[in-house]
Amino acid sequence: MNNFIFYSPTEFVFGRGAEVQTGTLVKKYGAHKVMVVYGGGSVVRNGLLACVEKSLQEAGIAYCMLGGVQPNPVDTKVYEGIELCRKEQVDMMLAVGGGSVIDTAKAIAAGVPYDGDFWDFYIGKSTVTEALKVAVVLTIPAAGSEGSGNTVITKVAGLQKLSLRVPGLLRPVFAVMNPELTYTLPPFQTACGIADMMAHIMERYFTNTQEVEIGDRLCEGTLLAIIKEAATVMKEPQNYGARANLMWCGTIAHNGTCGVGCEEDWASHFLEHEMSAIYNVTHGAGLSVIFPAWMTWMVDHHVDKIVQYAIRVWGVPESEDKKSVAFEGISRLKAFFKSIGLPITFAELGIENPDIDRLVDSLHRNKGELVGNYVKLTRKDSGEIYRLAL
Ligand code: NZQ
Ligand code: ZN
Repeated sequence: MNNFIFYSPTEFVFGRGAEVQTGTLVKKYGAHKVMVVYGGGSVVRNGLLACVEKSLQEAGIAYCMLGGVQPNPVDTKVYEGIELCRKEQVDMMLAVGGGSVIDTAKAIAAGVPYDGDFWDFYIGKSTVTEALKVAVVLTIPAAGSEGSGNTVITKVAGLQKLSLRVPGLLRPVFAVMNPELTYTLPPFQTACGIADMMAHIMERYFTNTQEVEIGDRLCEGTLLAIIKEAATVMKEPQNYGARANLMWCGTIAHNGTCGVGCEEDWASHFLEHEMSAIYNVTHGAGLSVIFPAWMTWMVDHHVDKIVQYAIRVWGVPESEDKKSVAFEGISRLKAFFKSIGLPITFAELGIENPDIDRLVDSLHRNKGELVGNYVKLTRKDSGEIYRLAL
């Protein structure tokens, strides 16, 4: 196991009716004026936004609003938010929504106290040394942004989707998580969230770091919990227990717990971010296409951990024939994704003839000549993986 520092100061307030505590929590963290950030309207339709506003008013907290964040959030909304925050003298961001809303709030939080262009942080031209506090009322278990220090934004000019990681400053100070708020999720969004949280675990699980039994077992156990609860939640969208377990799995998958002491991979995410940027696909659906393809490529290049995964997560019987064990594990993963309504090929994603040269060019321009860690992928390798997903 590698040396590590794990700092995860987020206060999670979890359970039925938790959102009524939002105003009190904002006050506890010392804010005077918050900017409430939300998406395309689901929180208006289901009454959550009104409930959050009431809670802020009762706590005597002033606020302004920034709605209309789109899935695969874009830089233009961030600029709008930075300007409004400065004008309104906001001192805390309150994201009410999913990953796209939270990531926009984080980008604004970093951008407000910075003299230059906030995009500098995403392209590595500058580092975040100061940020507004970020708080969250979560509506979809998926991206794990409620517990992570990450934000992912797409620059509209050039369609560049990049992530920024600042655990010390951009991890939310608190996250309100009421599983009942996820009852209104369309089945496809629920399924995409499931694929994303599984991917967050697998990006950490596929590591070359040795003696990481605790990490391996946390990953395997959380994956097993997700697979079990996924079947229930797809049949019974209002099953509280299943929604609650999935919601916490989504946080555990990405707040760092599963990966401490490991060299993590993240190639599948970077391969997918290009698909989201260029074809505007839903992140989780892009992952259900690309992760099995990445694993399939690994069978011929570095099979060991794929075999362990197939046996421990998918219950494939042990055998001398490592490759067949690995292939069976991948085939069970694909069958699972299909069973919850997710695509496993580009064609099923609605992209008949993806421009693979463009995807590869953009990936290596953004992430360097070698991508990932389990096996460091060259341009030729990433092209082969995209082709395996056709
Ligand atoms: O916009 P509204 O109307 O709110 O609808 C949203 C949106 O259409 C809807 N939704 C959310 N909660 C709902 C609901 N509909 C009904 N009832 C509810 N309770 O779901 C749709 C998707 O929302 P979005 O926020 O985009 O989903 P998600 O949480 O999956 O976030 C995806 C984004 O996060 C990034 C992805 O790349 C993508 O841009 N990621 C962020 C990470 C991070 N910050 O750590 C890590 C991830 O790997 C990921 O890359
Ligand atoms: Zn993800």
